[in-house]
Amino acid sequence: MKTIPKDAGMDQTMNILREGYTFLPKRFEQLETDIFQTRVLGKKVICLTGEEGARLFYDNEKFQREKAIPKRIQKSLFGKHAIQTMDGNTHEHRKLLFMSLMTKERIKIFGEIVTKTWQQQAKQWEGSIVLMDEAKEVLCRSICEWSGVPLQEKEVKKRAEQLWALVDSFGGVGPRHWQGRMDRKKTENWIEETILNIREGKIEAPKGSAAYEMAFHRNLEGEPLDARMAAIELLNVLRPTVAVSLYITYAALALLEEPELTDKLKVADDEYIGMFAQEVRRYFPFAPFLGAIARRDFIWNDYPFKKGQMVFIDLHGVNHDKTLWESPYEFYPERFYGWNGSLYDLVPQGGGEHFKGHRCPGEWITVEAIKSSAKFLTNDIEYKIAENQDLEYDVSRIPAIPKSGVVLTNIKGV
Ligand code: HEM
Repeated sequence: MKTIPKDAGMDQTMNILREGYTFLPKRFEQLETDIFQTRVLGKKVICLTGEEGARLFYDNEKFQREKAIPKRIQKSLFGKHAIQTMDGNTHEHRKLLFMSLMTKERIKIFGEIVTKTWQQQAKQWEGSIVLMDEAKEVLCRSICEWSGVPLQEKEVKKRAEQLWALVDSFGGVGPRHWQGRMDRKKTENWIEETILNIREGKIEAPKGSAAYEMAFHRNLEGEPLDARMAAIELLNVLRPTVAVSLYITYAALALLEEPELTDKLKVADDEYIGMFAQEVRRYFPFAPFLGAIARRDFIWNDYPFKKGQMVFIDLHGVNHDKTLWESPYEFYPERFYGWNGSLYDLVPQGGGEHFKGHRCPGEWITVEAIKSSAKFLTNDIEYKIAENQDLEYDVSRIPAIPKSGVVLTNIKGV
């Protein structure tokens, strides 16, 4: 039996907060390994990277999610007892609810709503705009429309910021975390009321829309979800869709850094725009790592795992693994020409299977939103990049965000 390499030093919680996305990749490199053991929040954690690491992490028979998600994340980012914390049959049943929303037709409709919403939003623009702020609003409007959630014009900005605050609270301590907790209460209250109104027939949400399906979903025992729970799951559609605003901001950054990309996208076919969207998801930092707990004792590659052991998978590291991606730190959409990936190499939104595992059910609408937005930025408008703005993003902050939010100026319709 081999001994799992150990990270030097004591508890690494503070270093994770200090180093963000670089914490795990740096240690895998220093220790020249794809597996090492460390301590986080006082507990032993085994960290994994690479395709094989991801394959192990997504083995449902070996790992569970129950108790793997800290309470503080449930009280801010996810909501309590949501799909992210479930296992086995109950998880599969709940997952089916999310997957049933993602038909080809509904995904296409979402892309069309995003395009239309950008075009409408652009009519209000005068002078300069902060692209990230506009993208939050566009996605908030779009996902509410797609999901059948009524949204009054005067509340768009507030709701967009609240939903974003849940995402932003993720890697935060202190005020950022507390803001997320406050906004979680506010957004759960808002959506719970929406669910109750749909159930009472006061709001008409179309069958097949997320709001309708969450409101009338029945659990494995055939009972409707508690209204709060239905609201938490509907927020599990709204919140991460508003989060796609960060990918759109990064997409704009990629266009700024390589001007010839704009020319390529102007004339690109759907395939190339799709490759561009995939590269945005692979290249830029978003979800850093995930945790799961070993269900039982087992041996993997001659390394012993004990029941109850916490394990992390380094998502950001797998997306930049040099054995999987040539020149991983180059932004290069062409790498996806004829790409025939596995379920464990491109993992910005998790890996493994969608139906049976925890892989993100929102991947298709994320790609669709990035594509529609990239087309809008390259084909529907012309703009200049405002001078004197800070486009840096700090990879020690989770989530990392371009500091200025990308300010565009002299915007003209084409
Ligand atoms: C910025 C874009 C997004 C990112 C970076 C992202 C990332 C992730 C990640 C890392 C996971 C965890 C996978 C795992 O636990 O193994 C996940 C799960 C999930 N995502 Fe996304 N996601 C995004 C967009 C979306 C969208 C648009 C939706 C809308 C439906 C969505 C809904 C969910 C749900 C419901 C889960 C839980 C799935 C489960 O536990 O089975 N996400 N996402």
